[in-house]
Amino acid sequence: MQFQNDLISWFAAEKRDLPWRRTADPYQIWVSEIMLQQTRVDTVIPYYKRFVEKFPTVNDLAEADEEVLLKQWEGLGYYSRVRNLQAGVKEVAEKYNGVVPASRKEISLLKGVGPYTAGAILSIAYGIPEHAVDGNVMRVLSRILLIEEDIAKPKTRKVFEDAVTEIISHEDPSSFNQGLMELGALICTPTSPKCLLCPVRDHCAAFHEGKQHELPIKTKAKKTKALQYAMLAIQKGDKVLMEKRPPTGLLANMWQFPMVELAGEALAAEIEEELSENFSGSVSGAEKIISFKHVFSHLTWNVDGFIAQGENLKVPEGMKWVTAEELESLPISGPVQKMKTALQQRGDV
Ligand code: ADE
Repeated sequence: MQFQNDLISWFAAEKRDLPWRRTADPYQIWVSEIMLQQTRVDTVIPYYKRFVEKFPTVNDLAEADEEVLLKQWEGLGYYSRVRNLQAGVKEVAEKYNGVVPASRKEISLLKGVGPYTAGAILSIAYGIPEHAVDGNVMRVLSRILLIEEDIAKPKTRKVFEDAVTEIISHEDPSSFNQGLMELGALICTPTSPKCLLCPVRDHCAAFHEGKQHELPIKTKAKKTKALQYAMLAIQKGDKVLMEKRPPTGLLANMWQFPMVELAGEALAAEIEEELSENFSGSVSGAEKIISFKHVFSHLTWNVDGFIAQGENLKVPEGMKWVTAEELESLPISGPVQKMKTALQQRGDV
């Protein structure tokens, strides 16, 4: 089929030299696809290199300490990705003797491996003609095939998976799927697609009809909710109090400066009151040092950061005093990093 040939030849000539394109190891490709799911290529590159250097095989990752793992992932966000990845990799180590299974049925049963990741590993690492449809591929194909279904609806993905199953190259499924991804990244971009440079323009129904700017059809997601927090750097001598988040839910097992949810914006005086309740009156001298907003995928945190003193504090369950050096080895999320940077700029940690 001419479309396949044009796409694959273009990919061969123009593909970016990315580190995960220098391996055929299904485990390493798995790692790359998980990292790339909600994160830009440029951001992923250094994380990927460090990760596969530190955990080069299924067994290395299966045996890794969770805190070390979260630290490696720090700054990439969506931390459940790495716990699920490790859980999936442990299954491969235990059940498949360290070899990633090469069928959609088996690979899809692994923790964290959805239809897209399954298809990406099967096609890229094993050369099996399986669909790998993510949001970018849906955008590209909505234009080429002029598919006017709402790509925000979960059930629409099946339409695109069926389309790929029909048109995927059986000679080179890897280049076909990666060609679609690369086209989405370099040419068939969300706004201002570069149709005049497009290698498959002649096959593009949307370009033919002048509709490339109207596609894909994607209804707007509804507004996410916002929560208000006080984040507290409680100091004693050269140490600061840190709290480990619960083992499930948002930012599970990540560390943070103790946080208190508030009804509205935090005032220092009210914080003292909140603190007396939460720390039995042994925290004093609260001073606001920063206010910022952090947007998660389904939630916004509005955070007021305070420093305070906790000389006579009895350490609550799940918290510990750490030195500046120990603080460096704890995995922390974006908002906690913002607070830490503010403290470092003041010379407080
Ligand atoms: N995005 C998702 N998978 C990718 C890949 N293998 N190469 C480049 N970008 C991607």
